[in-house]
Amino acid sequence: MPKDVIIPLDFPNAQAALDFLALFPEGEKPYVKTGMELIYSSGFELVRECKRRGHKVFLDLKLHDIPNTVRNAFRAMMQYNVDLINLHAAGGIEMMAAAMEGITAPDGTHPIVIAVTQLTSTNDTRLREELLIETPMAETVLHYAKNAKAAGLCGVVCSAHEAAAVKSACGQDFVTVTPGIRFADSAANDQSRIMTPAQARQTGTDYIVVGRPIIAAADPLAAYRRCMSEFLR
Ligand code: C5P
Repeated sequence: MPKDVIIPLDFPNAQAALDFLALFPEGEKPYVKTGMELIYSSGFELVRECKRRGHKVFLDLKLHDIPNTVRNAFRAMMQYNVDLINLHAAGGIEMMAAAMEGITAPDGTHPIVIAVTQLTSTNDTRLREELLIETPMAETVLHYAKNAKAAGLCGVVCSAHEAAAVKSACGQDFVTVTPGIRFADSAANDQSRIMTPAQARQTGTDYIVVGRPIIAAADPLAAYRRCMSEFLR
């Protein structure tokens, strides 16, 4: 299973994202994530441009709608040829299966499709008091991961703290993508359950998503290389 560091292009517009990518020498093409802010502000042209330049792209749009709409939306997104794409497990097994159907080419190939289990902004109190879900967070995450597997998805987004449990419940080849990564000497910012790249490697997780420790570093290229060497060592 390939392991990699994914950099979220958390910039206000496409030009800022491209300026950031210009810091990398020819031949060093980090895996990037394009999310809602950038797509809604700048459109899909940036995704095409990243692919043209040879980057792998995680399209992070977290879809959640009725199965038919998600099937058709995923089918429409086949044109961007992304490497990783996601949706919300809360949409249910039928919705997730429809997404897989939509994005699977006639030859059976498809990008890595993963589900968001519970957002890291959701805590046990919110789960219970706002969403009326009495099941504790850890159990909910595992249950949603099993639903994703039942729907034929490839994996889930989860914290590094949950990656090992997800893999033991869903299989070692079930992909885990984990944000909330910080160097031992960098600021936690608003992430609460963090791990270093080296600790994340120990959990067996496949991909780490590392934003501010790289993009807000004085030397982003050095920070990216440090992250790669700690995680892939
Ligand atoms: O800057 P930082 O490393 O915290 O960035 C993490 C990235 O991962 C951001 O793009 C954030 O939106 C995303 N993310 C997250 N937690 C999730 C899902 C996505 O931090 N549960």
